[in-house]
Amino acid sequence: MLVLARYPEIGMNGMGTQPIASTGTFRERRLPDPCAMVIFGASGDLTERKVIPALYYLVRERLLSDEYSVVGCGRTPFTHDQFRDKMRESVAEFLHLSAEERNQFPQGFGKRLFYQQGDFGEAAAYDKLRELLEQLDRERGTAGNRLFYLATPPSFFPVIVTGLGNARLARPQAPDQNWTRIVIEKPFGRDLASARDLNRSVTSVFSEEQVYRIDHYLGKETVQNLLVFRFANGVFEPIWNRRYIDHVQITVAEDLGVEERGSYYEEAGCLRDMIQNHVLQLLSLVAMEPPAAFRADAVRDEKAKVLRAIRPVPFDRVADSAIRGQYRAGHARGGPVPGYRSEPKVAANSTTETFTALKFFIDDWRWADVPFYLRSGKRLAKRASEIAIQFRRVPHLLFRDCATQRIDPNLLIVHIQPDEGMSLSFSAKLPGPVMKIRPVTMNFRYSEVFNASPPTAYETLLLDCMLGDATLFNRQDAVDLSWQLVDPILARWKEDGDRGLAFYDAGSWGPAEADAFLAADGRVWVPPDTTH
Ligand SMILES: NC(=O)c1ccc[n+]([C@@H]2O[C@H](COP(=O)([O-])OP(=O)(O)OC[C@H]3O[C@@H](n4cnc5c(N)ncnc54)[C@H](OP(=O)(O)O)[C@@H]3O)[C@@H](O)[C@H]2O)c1
Repeated sequence: MLVLARYPEIGMNGMGTQPIASTGTFRERRLPDPCAMVIFGASGDLTERKVIPALYYLVRERLLSDEYSVVGCGRTPFTHDQFRDKMRESVAEFLHLSAEERNQFPQGFGKRLFYQQGDFGEAAAYDKLRELLEQLDRERGTAGNRLFYLATPPSFFPVIVTGLGNARLARPQAPDQNWTRIVIEKPFGRDLASARDLNRSVTSVFSEEQVYRIDHYLGKETVQNLLVFRFANGVFEPIWNRRYIDHVQITVAEDLGVEERGSYYEEAGCLRDMIQNHVLQLLSLVAMEPPAAFRADAVRDEKAKVLRAIRPVPFDRVADSAIRGQYRAGHARGGPVPGYRSEPKVAANSTTETFTALKFFIDDWRWADVPFYLRSGKRLAKRASEIAIQFRRVPHLLFRDCATQRIDPNLLIVHIQPDEGMSLSFSAKLPGPVMKIRPVTMNFRYSEVFNASPPTAYETLLLDCMLGDATLFNRQDAVDLSWQLVDPILARWKEDGDRGLAFYDAGSWGPAEADAFLAADGRVWVPPDTTH
């Protein structure tokens, strides 16, 4: 978990503060134990774009022990050197390395990379892996500590777990002994039944404390800052409830289409791909009660309580709480783009949703009757992830005779991407003799205040795994609860086929039905990124 206490005091706009030059101050300086990290799926996209660059960053920032090694596993045959060369090109591309850093790669990070070719379904691959790990323990001081990272298609998760178990590579955690942990990528199941099956496979080999279910949204700086914002400031928590908050909106918008991932997306759809995991996690952080301590189980207990308190959407009332849409041809990212049904590997009559809007209520004392509106979609007008907390209007309109007819309610926006930060809008008097009122905004941007880009989520999460801190990872109960919430909606949409599927132009903010959905409650979607 990040420790932010090292920052000097800051103002909302950063004025009067000393910017911090080094990104190294982001974290408490506790180094993880020596360890070997094994990446299954090392020739794949995630490894190349996220995992290896994140590890390189941690090494460059001196956040890892000197005794670390990384073993990539995949089907493609590579020698160690071929794998190192490929990873050097990836890191150079994704972290914009200087020529000097690129040249130093083989003597530094490159020397710690190894490759083990094999098929995940073959027992021999795990025996070879065990031999290599034992050799690294002897020669590189990795001390028997192992972090397995499953960056593979989900169908391989149970296969690899079983392979590790059979090869005696999944020793249970024992206090004061070397450790073994496993990181499992999303998606964790495709419905409640499959998530439970997967969990049974995983926990038949590893104990729950060894399992780190990753959701990279939770590693983002602003998402963690939401906890600091709520629980390290006296100003906001007293008004963080139904008495002062009118409603909450969470938007996760992408401007990209499905690109090359048509066959995956046809099976997934927006509700599974985004809402069940990222968006519900964000909701639980906004809505949870203060945990008793900032420890993994205390935080995860509170998050699970929120998910448990969300009112289920009954199968026969799905249309009252959920909208689904699909993009048709339009304009996005500066040019014409095809509709979803014309994308590669997508059925010409597909009913897969590329857009979802939902309304949830949390049935507890803090949030009774406060709607949480969630929306996510592909090929929307811009890429933006935001949480908008709209406060109630003032109870009495004092300024009746002024030139302003309507006073906007206060709005707090947590910007998650592309720029991380927060903004708070409130009413102010326009200068001049006439009483005119206008909303103004206080902005806090990470990049301005701290003079540094926050690390991407993967650095934070990988380091947390190595430190044994599971606070930002999903526990099985939260996974089950979120599937329980979306399962009836998925079932209803499956039964309905294309009945009720709304269409929207690529490059717009989604179907008109989503606007009507909020208008029916007398509300509008907050346009993302307008105040930041
Ligand atoms: N890509 C992303 O941005 C992203 C983001 C979030 C989550 N994820 C999740 O991360 C996981 C990996 O995604 P990805 O996009 O990296 O997938 P990918 O590019 O398709 O990579 C799959 C990897 O698995 C290996 N593999 C497949 N079958 C194998 C077998 N029988 N034996 C040995 N190796 C085998 C492949 O090796 P060969 O290529 O050598 O055959 C490749 O290294 C998925 O669960 C995905 O949902 C990905």
